[in-house]
This record gives sequence, C-alpha cells and structure tokens, in this order.
Amino acid sequence: MRRTPLFIRGRFKGPSLQLCDLAALALRQSLEVPSRLLMGPGPSNAHPRVLAAQALPLLGHMHPHFFKIMDEIQGGLRYLFQTDSPYTLCISGTGHAGMEAVIANLLEPGDKIVVANNGIWGERVADMAGRFRAEVVQLRAPAGKTFSTGELKAALEEHKPAALFLVQGESSTGAHQALGDGLGAACRAAGALLIVDTVASLGGVPFLGDAWGVDAAYTGSQKCLSAPPGAAPLFLGPRAIEKLRGRGTKPATYNLDLNLIGDYWGWFGKRSYHHTGMVSMWYAMREALAIAGDEGLEAMWARHSQAHRDLWEGLRALGLEPFVEKDADRLITVNTIKVPPGIDFAALTAHAMANFSVEISGGLGPTAGKVWRVGLMGANATPASVQVVLAAFRAGLAAQGWKGAQAAPATA
Ligand SMILES: Cc1ncc(COP(=O)(O)O)c(C=O)c1O
Repeated sequence: MRRTPLFIRGRFKGPSLQLCDLAALALRQSLEVPSRLLMGPGPSNAHPRVLAAQALPLLGHMHPHFFKIMDEIQGGLRYLFQTDSPYTLCISGTGHAGMEAVIANLLEPGDKIVVANNGIWGERVADMAGRFRAEVVQLRAPAGKTFSTGELKAALEEHKPAALFLVQGESSTGAHQALGDGLGAACRAAGALLIVDTVASLGGVPFLGDAWGVDAAYTGSQKCLSAPPGAAPLFLGPRAIEKLRGRGTKPATYNLDLNLIGDYWGWFGKRSYHHTGMVSMWYAMREALAIAGDEGLEAMWARHSQAHRDLWEGLRALGLEPFVEKDADRLITVNTIKVPPGIDFAALTAHAMANFSVEISGGLGPTAGKVWRVGLMGANATPASVQVVLAAFRAGLAAQGWKGAQAAPATA
C-alpha cells in the first residue's frame, strides 16, 4: 500500500530516488529519543506534567475554552514577573522572538537605546535594535562583570535614551546583573524605558517587575519554567504600553507586532486572529505556571540557590574555580566554571555525555573555550542532578589525569 507521496517511486522530480528510499527507510523506524539529563544553559529537562499536558487533544485557537486557558496563562505570568500589569502574553517562538518583539515594538526608527553589553545577549540586542533603525549606544563591560547602578545612571544622564536594556542572567558568561537600587526610578526620571532579558533567570532568581520599575521583560519557556522551547512569555508595564499605543509608525514586523498579538490575547478589549496560537505549547505553559504557582516563587528561588551552593561545594572540592570573580555577580542558574590549564574542555563534555548521559556545555561568545557552563534550572535544580554533574566532572577530569589545582601544570 502506498503511504505518502514521499514514498512513491518515480512520481516526483527533485530529490533522487535513492535519497527518497533512504529517507523512507529511516522514517519507517519508530522514533527513538535517548534520555539525557540536560545540565547545559538550556533547554533543561521539561517537567513530566508539562510533557503530559502537551499530549492533550487540540482545541481551536479561537475557541472560548482555549481563550480561558490563555487568560489563565496571563494570570500565571503576572505572578512570575511580579507585576500587576494586565499586559502579559506568550510570543509563539523562543527567547529570541521575545527579545525581537520587545525591541521592535518599543523602539521607533531614530529612538536611542543604551544597551548594557557584557556578553552575547547584549550583543544581539544591539544588532537587532540597529536593524529596526534605532540609534544604538553600547555600554560595555568585560565578560563575567556586571554594571554598577552608578554607571547605568551616568549613561542615562549622558545619552538620554528612549530605552535602557539589561540582561539579568547573562548565560554566555554566568553574570547576574542587579536591577534594584533605584534603577527603575532613574529610568523613569530620564524618560527611558527599562527593558530586561530574563530568559536564563526568571523563576530561578528573584525578579520583581513592578517593585523594580521594569517596563518590559521577556523570558523563555525552556529554562527555569521546565517547559520545552517554543514560548517566550513577556510583560509590558503601563509606560511600555503607552509607547506601543502611541507609536507614529507601525513596527517593522508583522509577525511580532504586539498591537496585533495583543489583540489575540485580549489586551485591548477584543479578540482577533493574528496567527494560529501554539495550542499544545500553551497547554505546556499553563501546566508549567501551575507547577510554579504550587511551589511558590520564594521556594523556587531557594531551591535554585541551594543547588548552586551544592554544585560549587563539589566543584571547589575538585579544585575547580568560578569564572565570575565576585560572589554577588555570579548567576546561580547558569554556572561558568574555568577550564584549568592542560584540560581539554570538549573531551570532558564528550566524556560526560558518553558515560553519564549528561549534557555539560562549553562556553559561548566571549567565554568560548574558557569555561564549562552548567545550568541549574527548573526541574533540574535538584540535589540528584547536581550529584550527577559532579560525578561526571570527577570522572572526566580523572580521565585526563587531573590531580586538582595544586598539581595542575602552570601552562596548557
Ligand atoms: C539570556 C538569554 N537571552 C536570550 C536567549 C535566547 O533564547 P532562545 O535560544 O530560546 O531563542 C538565551 C538563550 O540561551 C539566553 O540565555
């Protein structure tokens, strides 16, 4: 019996028959996915309840029952972002889509944005903002360092931007940017929107959207929320909404136009179709938010913090050191560990995968080749996961003859 056009021999021009046959052979095997413990910078393993939610029957994306689910997600996001703002939603896409939505909608051509750039995410936002014809001023800090409130306030004074952008958890370097300390008030006084990337941090470390005066923030589903990649939750506060509604030009993206997506999520008193909502993904988000609500944010922060302490106790006992020098600057959700001289970082990650089925990542951007990155996020921020990571480091280092910091050769 013929199954799909892919398998019909000789009927289509294009891919060679041999390739079609090979593809058919592969696709006829049942789908096999090995079980991995994902302890890199994301995705993290999804919670089993979240995966089960995705298997529920589809609803239409404009059905009243589905709108109710979307409303419940919005309520959960208000809790997560710690905001009273009614303007929460999930972008259909990953963290980058949340990033681009915020940048494209809150800046008009010619608007100035100060981008605090201490790693790859600041770099990307500077790139994106330029593509949307904003005037970009980059404030730079070395990898592993953060910005002081004084520096940020001085930049607001000097440049008088329409927006200031910060990354709370710079996952390429493992740096945690402080956001309180009057920064929100300073932005308000300077007439700048405060925009924050919380992709690698929200749910794992404290984030107080309203109390800190944050105007817009976005995150990703696949990190501390224990859901698969595919949703980028965001919120806009009242000043950001004012900017969005008062634009003189349409955002230069239809796909990420928050005026239109906002209508789909009922932001402006009606519901209209913009794109087909990601039905199963929204079930996953609803379940992930229910799990977060059951545990409570404070308990989540404490659990992530404990996992971080346990990890570093073990890593230091092995003679390993953090890449981020100052305790206060160290991100607990994505930990960067210096690769000691003489050690092959890629061989260790390969050893961890081959022997422990655990993902440990190398560096990214400014930390490439210099660090390992260990994520402690969501359902993976547990004592058991930390112990697997430590066992993988112990065995992987031993396989390379590592005897601890004292015995390390002086040069690579
Ligand atoms: C801080 C930060 N921002 C943005 C992103 C981009 O997210 P995504 O890969 O989901 O598009 C990431 C991904 O790791 C991240 O860690």
